[in-house]
Amino acid sequence: MIIGSISENESIEKRISITPEISKKYINLGFEIQLTKGYGKHLGFTQSDFEDVGVKIIEDAKTLIQNSDIIVQMSLLDNNHLSFLKSEQTYIGVLNSYENKDKLLELSKKNINFFSLELLPRITRAQSMDILSSQANLAGYKAVLESFSIFEKAIPMMMTAAGTIPAAKVLVVGAGVAGLQAIATAKRMGAIVYATDVRLASKEQVESLGGKFLSVEGSENLETEGGYAKEASEEFKKKQEELLAETLKKIDIVICTALIPGKKAPLIIKENMIINMQPGSIIYDLAAIQGGNSAFTEVDKVIEKNGVKIMGEGNILNKLPSSSSNLYAKNVYNFVSNLYDKENKKININLEDEIISKTIIK
Ligand code: NAI
Repeated sequence: MIIGSISENESIEKRISITPEISKKYINLGFEIQLTKGYGKHLGFTQSDFEDVGVKIIEDAKTLIQNSDIIVQMSLLDNNHLSFLKSEQTYIGVLNSYENKDKLLELSKKNINFFSLELLPRITRAQSMDILSSQANLAGYKAVLESFSIFEKAIPMMMTAAGTIPAAKVLVVGAGVAGLQAIATAKRMGAIVYATDVRLASKEQVESLGGKFLSVEGSENLETEGGYAKEASEEFKKKQEELLAETLKKIDIVICTALIPGKKAPLIIKENMIINMQPGSIIYDLAAIQGGNSAFTEVDKVIEKNGVKIMGEGNILNKLPSSSSNLYAKNVYNFVSNLYDKENKKININLEDEIISKTIIK
């Protein structure tokens, strides 16, 4: 069986789905790997890095797509490339299945199996395939570095003969995978860290990392069975707003990570709260692409309001493409291994396996 991947549009996506290390693992499993010329070059991989482990390099994307039994990409390719797909092929990636639902359903009528990895269930067996966790973890880390790099004061407390510099105060909104990594990173750099979430289970996790959890008074636990957040009630939102408005007056840097699967990100940091923040403060909005947790957030822009800088990027992982590609490629490899029937050397779509039934587009 042939697994193929073509170079992404590098101006939008710098991550790749197959590294030389992972190619070797696929080949050891019995697959053939085909990649387009120049694949991964921008990450420092040469053609011989791939060829040395047995990868076949193909000049053009159309031939590669038509040759492949399984196509692995970061996301859904453009319509031109998608038109080369044929029946019985399998396509694996982060397909943004909520937004691309109609398109994907139309394409799967061609008898192509689409698997969208953001739909993976959060179960123990799927942890090694969990692209949301591997990527969010890096995003949380990088958001802290990005915001700290433009903050014009030092982060840790420093007691010097010339006087004392106080530690910066960081608020992390949403303590999921990205938020917890942001807390850990900010703590390691010497900040005082506060965090808030609608899921009460996150309190213990925040505290175990040395963060101070801000509980919304009298709040119920807004957690679904799958471990995700439910949309908060109007009453909860009002209480959260009061709590945050007061807290934000003393916060230097806010890292926003709050998301609700399949919905627009909740607007948590309102205009009136930003006006009361200290000039020089930073809001880094990791939820920018889903509409943002903060007022004024614009994708790929730094907006300044009252001296507060509000930042948000379309794809922060483009700033860590090597680390994120290594983890993504490994996640996809683990997913393919689970899908592959080694004895019969074919894909086995066992719908009794939750990992398969929840990610396949049907
Ligand atoms: P996410 O990216 O969907 O959301 C980020 C965080 O924002 C969540 O913690 C969510 O509760 C919070 N949030 C949503 N609305 C909010 C609001 N209005 N105010 C404040 N916070 C708000 O979530 P993520 O990071 O993907 O994690 C979801 C869950 O999955 C967590 O419980 C996590 O521990 C769990 N998980 C389980 C894994 C497993 O294999 N068992 C692996 C990874 C995550």
